[in-house]
Amino acid sequence: MALIGVFDSGVGGLSILDEALRQLPQHDYIYLADSANAPYGEKSSEWIAARSLILCKYLASKGCDAIVVACNTATAEAIAQIRTELSIPIIGVEPGIKPAAMQSQNGIVGVLATEATLKSDKFNALLATLPDHCRFIKQAGAGLVPLIEAGKADSEETLDLLGKHLEPILDAGSDTLVLGCTHYPFLRKSIRKLLGDTITLIDTSDAVVKQLKRQLETLEHNSHSEKHGSITLISSKNEASLLVMAKDLLSSDLNLHLVHSALLGDVL
Ligand code: DGL
Repeated sequence: MALIGVFDSGVGGLSILDEALRQLPQHDYIYLADSANAPYGEKSSEWIAARSLILCKYLASKGCDAIVVACNTATAEAIAQIRTELSIPIIGVEPGIKPAAMQSQNGIVGVLATEATLKSDKFNALLATLPDHCRFIKQAGAGLVPLIEAGKADSEETLDLLGKHLEPILDAGSDTLVLGCTHYPFLRKSIRKLLGDTITLIDTSDAVVKQLKRQLETLEHNSHSEKHGSITLISSKNEASLLVMAKDLLSSDLNLHLVHSALLGDVL
């Protein structure tokens, strides 16, 4: 079995871990939440790149066979450098604008992501590859990540803020919405409350985990086992609250896995 590192600025990458546990429950996971420093999306490119590299090096030093950078912002700013410095497979996450362009009926697609992701060269290069007939309404979700980190994804406060961010996307007539930050799948309930079923939501966790699976196959780490692997949850802020959030946000039954939690503390 493989040891897989999953890293995010906070609890957002749990949306990727959730899908990984669904498709690949037999592996061992280390989930690293840099919640002491969330949100990344309003920080400088240099800071995000340097911090993401340090944390991925830390995961590699723990013996990970592959790392999922389960953060659109860190992927946009740091993945090229991380791949240069580490020799294990590094899987990133990008806003699903390509599948959105394919699925949209009217060619108007909202993209909710962090400011750093929307400004990044990587995102804009991806955007430039897409056909002109599709119009993308880009909206930074300022303030949403701290609310999700505080366990308030379903609160009135979040609903209000989300409503404001979704306004330009709706006003433009979007029929498809890209959840371009791994925290945002945890807003599904609030989004549905505001928009009903009128809009198609695109998140890429399934595609990311399929990519992880392909990489593990090349490492010959894909044997099947009835046994569920272990999960180590590491937080740079508070390991007890990460465990509580994981129990709340993950749809997998954590009782099937051996779960440890730890504080990143002074390791770095
Ligand atoms: N979960 C992150 C992402 O996918 C980062 C959010 C943040 O820390 O601003 O972009």
